[in-house]
Amino acid sequence: MTEISRVSRSKEEARQNYDKMSRWYDLFTSSEKKFTDAGLPMLNVQSGESVLEIGFGTGYALLALAKAANPALVHGIDLSPEMRIVAEKRLARAGLSERALLQTGDASELPYEKNFFDAIFISFTLELFDTPEIPRVLNECRRVLKEGGRLGVVALEKQDSRAVRIYEWFHQKMPSFVDCRPIYASASLEEAGFSVAKRKLLKMWGLPVSILVAIKNP
Ligand SMILES: C[S@@+](CC[C@H](N)C(=O)[O-])C[C@H]1O[C@@H](n2cnc3c(N)ncnc32)[C@H](O)[C@@H]1O
Repeated sequence: MTEISRVSRSKEEARQNYDKMSRWYDLFTSSEKKFTDAGLPMLNVQSGESVLEIGFGTGYALLALAKAANPALVHGIDLSPEMRIVAEKRLARAGLSERALLQTGDASELPYEKNFFDAIFISFTLELFDTPEIPRVLNECRRVLKEGGRLGVVALEKQDSRAVRIYEWFHQKMPSFVDCRPIYASASLEEAGFSVAKRKLLKMWGLPVSILVAIKNP
């Protein structure tokens, strides 16, 4: 397996970039929404389940998660305070402000108790962590998930293809703008102590996108 690209920018730079992009983010990422839409029913959140979204961005998935988990609250954590403001406005417009508890913070140290969540959703965000941090984030997911808890991941999947090589070139040249990079999503989950129970591999502009639901191993 060839190595995935490393992440050269700092967390502070990431926060500043997402803060700047927050108001326009949905305009230039509309093509990603269908992958999130494919991941949500696979995670299949049930009424009363405690759910966390990591890297909720503008809150697109939070709406569906909040409705599905009702009467339980949906939790969310995102590095960017400006993204949080956009997500909170979106929840308010949908009349769901009371159904979500959002925090600003770094998902490599989740501020939640162990065995707290039934399900976690993370879309186009696991790819933003540097290579040594991916297992750290997944360990944190393991820690806060209940036994048998589900982790839903939507991520660019690293494969040996021309589309991936071209995309990685842009990632190297413009890391602030092309921030996500393809990772070995499925293998990373298995290595971190999850069993992948459901998987789909779709394509976005020729790039492989993994949609996975993994169960926390005992
Ligand atoms: C590419 S966007 C994806 C947003 C959303 N999940 C979606 O699919 O539209 C990545 C999001 O992750 C957040 N993020 C980046 N690094 C993070 C970190 N270390 N901890 C938590 N959130 C982070 C960014 O602020 C941004 O909102």
